[in-house]
Amino acid sequence: MKILFLGNTLDIKTEIVYEIKSELATEFIYVENLDEWIRSKEENTDIEICIINVDKDKDQILRFEEYIINNWDESPILLYSKNTNLKEDCILNLPPNVYYNRDASPRSIVSKTKEIIGISSNRSSTNYYPIRSIRFKAVNSVVCDVYIKLGDNKFVKIIGKNDLYDNEQIQKYIKKGITTLYVLQEDYFEFCRHYSKLLGSMLATQNKTNLLKTEYTSISFIHEITNELGLSSIVVETIDDTVNSCMCILNENDHLLKFVDKLKKEGNYLYKHSQLLIYVSCAIALEMNWSSDSTLKKLSIASILHDITLENEELALIDELNDDKFDDLSWRDIKTIKNHSLDAFNLIAKSNNLPPDIESIVRDHHERPDGSGFPRGLFATNISPLSCIFILAEDFVHQFYEAGCKKSTCKSIIERLDKKYSKGNFRKPLEGIKKCFL
Ligand SMILES: [Fe+2]
Ligand SMILES: [Fe+2]
Repeated sequence: MKILFLGNTLDIKTEIVYEIKSELATEFIYVENLDEWIRSKEENTDIEICIINVDKDKDQILRFEEYIINNWDESPILLYSKNTNLKEDCILNLPPNVYYNRDASPRSIVSKTKEIIGISSNRSSTNYYPIRSIRFKAVNSVVCDVYIKLGDNKFVKIIGKNDLYDNEQIQKYIKKGITTLYVLQEDYFEFCRHYSKLLGSMLATQNKTNLLKTEYTSISFIHEITNELGLSSIVVETIDDTVNSCMCILNENDHLLKFVDKLKKEGNYLYKHSQLLIYVSCAIALEMNWSSDSTLKKLSIASILHDITLENEELALIDELNDDKFDDLSWRDIKTIKNHSLDAFNLIAKSNNLPPDIESIVRDHHERPDGSGFPRGLFATNISPLSCIFILAEDFVHQFYEAGCKKSTCKSIIERLDKKYSKGNFRKPLEGIKKCFL
């Protein structure tokens, strides 16, 4: 399915694309102005919907309005803007099939997009689960049958369970525009588990530069940063799948989801650094060859949950007790910071069906190798290896954000980490992070 996206507000664009891609197998074409939009529309006759974000530029929306009133081909357009001054001007004259979204939240755009395209929001109503075709190129056999979709309810098996297949076969499908293949829903998690294992062994043997050349297929606010960091698409997609299965686990814990949803809605540093932490901590684990499904899940869920008891993003920006920012805080805020990892630990301990170790990773995420951390002031040799990966990854993410999310800052960040963490159980993860980002 092709979606043409016009807009140049990076945050909004990446969040909406991320939300839509997490639910629908889609290909996005991005344009930034009306002329590019018209050209793309003419070149791609199979576009199913255009999503248009015109938050800032009043001239552009007036030109756009004029264009669609005079040249509209009846294909659906979803227009959204938070600019209240534009609303009445624009809505009145727009033809039907041009949908105006007043809420402009990423979730509402996804729902409206699905409604327009006529796709049910209930994934479980189909027995087949979409997986991007390119992922099948990374391996040459999978643990379940693979299908191609021929029509609304028509799927045909193209690869049998554990059958060997050729990359060429997948490339042919991709060339024909078949960018999505399917596995049965009940096979999906087994597929992900197996794929992750294979990836771990590939990472150990394959030339890293080859992996880095692999095409990036996913764009979202987080994927733009992982791209900037130089993580390969195979690593990113494997972690994407881990995140999907983690969300299934978290779905069984309403009391945690409440916090996660709140973070997600606010979309600020608290949410974004937790998202990036998933990718950084899992990338380090994969680089260390700790690629088991359960390790990746533990790190991912701990990333999502580690700061859920903080409400103020300013407080989340304070990572250590000797931070200068402490001087300007009230005693109440200082108490919140000092207690937040233990509070999260207690919340998680009450949860059902979470893999073990998550609560201790969360409790220890501000411990430091020299004993200066909190809440327990542990030293390098008393912190578990998995917690060491997590602590190192969190410190890296924190500094990376503070330095503006630029790859060029990685070297100096890692030099600082090297001075601080080359002790005890931190040594191996430190090697891992160097291999990942230097
Ligand atoms: Fe954090
Ligand atoms: Fe924290």
